Amino acid sequence: MLDTVKVTNAEFAADVLEGLGLPQKTLPCRWLYDERGSQLFEEITDLPEYYPTRTETKILEGCRREVAAAAGSGATLVEYGSGASVKTRLLLDTFDALHCYVPIDVSASFLEETADQLRRDYPSLSIKSIVGDFLSPISVPSNARGAGRTVGFFPGSTIGNLSNAEISDFFQRARQDLGDGASFVLGADLKKDVARLIPAYDDAAGVTAAFNLNILKRINRELEGSFTLDQFAHEARWNEDASRVEMHLVSQMDQTVTVADTKIGFAEGETIHTENSRKFAIDELVQLAEAQGWTLSQSWMDDEKLFSVVMLDAA
Ligand code: TRP
Repeated sequence: MLDTVKVTNAEFAADVLEGLGLPQKTLPCRWLYDERGSQLFEEITDLPEYYPTRTETKILEGCRREVAAAAGSGATLVEYGSGASVKTRLLLDTFDALHCYVPIDVSASFLEETADQLRRDYPSLSIKSIVGDFLSPISVPSNARGAGRTVGFFPGSTIGNLSNAEISDFFQRARQDLGDGASFVLGADLKKDVARLIPAYDDAAGVTAAFNLNILKRINRELEGSFTLDQFAHEARWNEDASRVEMHLVSQMDQTVTVADTKIGFAEGETIHTENSRKFAIDELVQLAEAQGWTLSQSWMDDEKLFSVVMLDAA
């Protein structure tokens, strides 16, 4: 049952042409996640260099009983950017008599496949999927709510892919969407040694490079683009001032590319900025949340303090 907020090619075209017209060429990161992009991202989560997924999973294994106890019986679990819902299973296995699971994702096909698999593995679970970008308003269907608490789930440090302004908007909207009495469980990647960070976003096997370049393939396919993939190279850079890893696609030569009949010039070395992955101090994240009507309930970290899971309550 897909409550479709259909993502159209017109929106994609508008975003791409606007972004590639800026002085620092940019592509909004949500377009990375077509079917192939979502698959490649799942491969990233298994890479030896990509510590976040493994670390967050371990933290969740350790804290999920506390989270389930706080959620109580008959809760509704709303997941933002659910992807393959792998970590969600840890909560689905632990929550008492979950009333409904509401996954939200931009990839409709991926969402459907994942829901099918979950229905097989959790035959009594009610699933109400929402296709959409979690930066736009989402309304949790009223029949997804039961007598229990509504619990938001936003793992994977996806919050770090947002700008500060977007994080504030997101916290405010989630506070409204999830409602009074809600809790919100978030994963956030922490500041650490750059030597540890960069390989996580530029792996030896080249999966992250393929993921980043896949957006050009998507433009070629869906918007009659003329990108030659090997004329762009993936780069992950640390931006100290913004405390984030930035993903770029670097033009390997002076070239002109056509997208939907528009010509776009690239100088050699010029980049398209495709993604940010902000690294937090827990206090910074909590401050952003508190300003939008949340209070810190509990937080957990791994032994190496690489990653954190934070539980907030609606204030
Ligand atoms: N939320 C993930 C992160 O910030 C997303 C991500 C991982 C990502 N690797 C990436 C996004 C590479 C773009 C490119 O860690």
